[in-house]
Amino acid sequence: MIVTTAELFKVAYGKFAIGAYNINNIEQAIGLYIGNLDAKAPFIIQISKGARKYAGVKMLEGVIRACDATFPEAIYAVHLDHGDEKTCFDCIDSGFYSSVMIDASSEPFQKNIEITRRIVDRAHAKGISVEAELGMLGGVEEHVKVEEKDARLTDPDDAKIFVERTGCDSLAVAIGTSHGAYKFKGSQGLHFEVIEAIQQRLPGFPLVMHGSSSVPQEEVARINAAGGKLDPSARGVNENEFTRAAQLGVTKVNIDTDGRLVWTRVHREFFRDHPEKFDFREPGEVFKKEYAAFIVHKSQKLGSSGKLDEVRMTLGAGH
Ligand code: G3H
Ligand code: 13P
Ligand code: ZN
Repeated sequence: MIVTTAELFKVAYGKFAIGAYNINNIEQAIGLYIGNLDAKAPFIIQISKGARKYAGVKMLEGVIRACDATFPEAIYAVHLDHGDEKTCFDCIDSGFYSSVMIDASSEPFQKNIEITRRIVDRAHAKGISVEAELGMLGGVEEHVKVEEKDARLTDPDDAKIFVERTGCDSLAVAIGTSHGAYKFKGSQGLHFEVIEAIQQRLPGFPLVMHGSSSVPQEEVARINAAGGKLDPSARGVNENEFTRAAQLGVTKVNIDTDGRLVWTRVHREFFRDHPEKFDFREPGEVFKKEYAAFIVHKSQKLGSSGKLDEVRMTLGAGH
């Protein structure tokens, strides 16, 4: 059942975080639903501009509708990830999305406010909520590479002003993470002092953490042992920090790269071990199972595991 992002946030805020996972193909979608049902977790499906281009807007919508009919117990929202103004308007007007993200974080503060405000006005008129972004994450985002030196943590005072002026419903904050498989070298934790300062100024307001993949070392090692050439020194977010972040208002945690690593590991190992095979459904089956197991694991770390009944009861009469 597709619900609004706002409804999920209301149940989760301050208690647990909801995993927001990008999808691009059928196997990933099926694994995502099965994993969340196995974990009894609510979740958010997010679709990037790149996914819309790769799979096609109607195709992705069709896949989600088919999964909805196939897995009627699932409770989730559908979200546009890193939208520009035009894509946000398209998604709002389509009536299919629970929420959109307008990412004008590379614009100056005032312009970011103006653009976000325009999206909020149109989205709220249709009951759709809006995630905006303030601060600048490092890494690759929609093919724009932000060097670590240009990355900026979110200023807590600016965050308060930004939320008040735009009327956005959630805010993606830069708190030390970055996108992609190459995040930090060595150990670097989340900037809890920044999250705390933002929560003090915006109590009860849902924050979003992008770039939340953990880039597991064992996953990278297996990929490289099967012919890959990923940087083995790459590190991601420590999953054990999710729950503390959730208590401080981080309500949505975006994970894409780790799922791509599962895909890469499964397919590299499969064809290394079975060089004579060519039926792509065989590794596809392995991937669906492995992706579902990966989602179960993430749900445990996010604290969303086992929360499905509570969400269903809270949604109650409205659905
Ligand atoms: O933050 C970006 C997400 O990982 C989506 O990636 O734009 O390559 O689909 P994409
Ligand atoms: P990762 O690259 O860490 O998976 O982040 C995904 C993301 O933020 C999608 O918006
Ligand atoms: Zn992101």
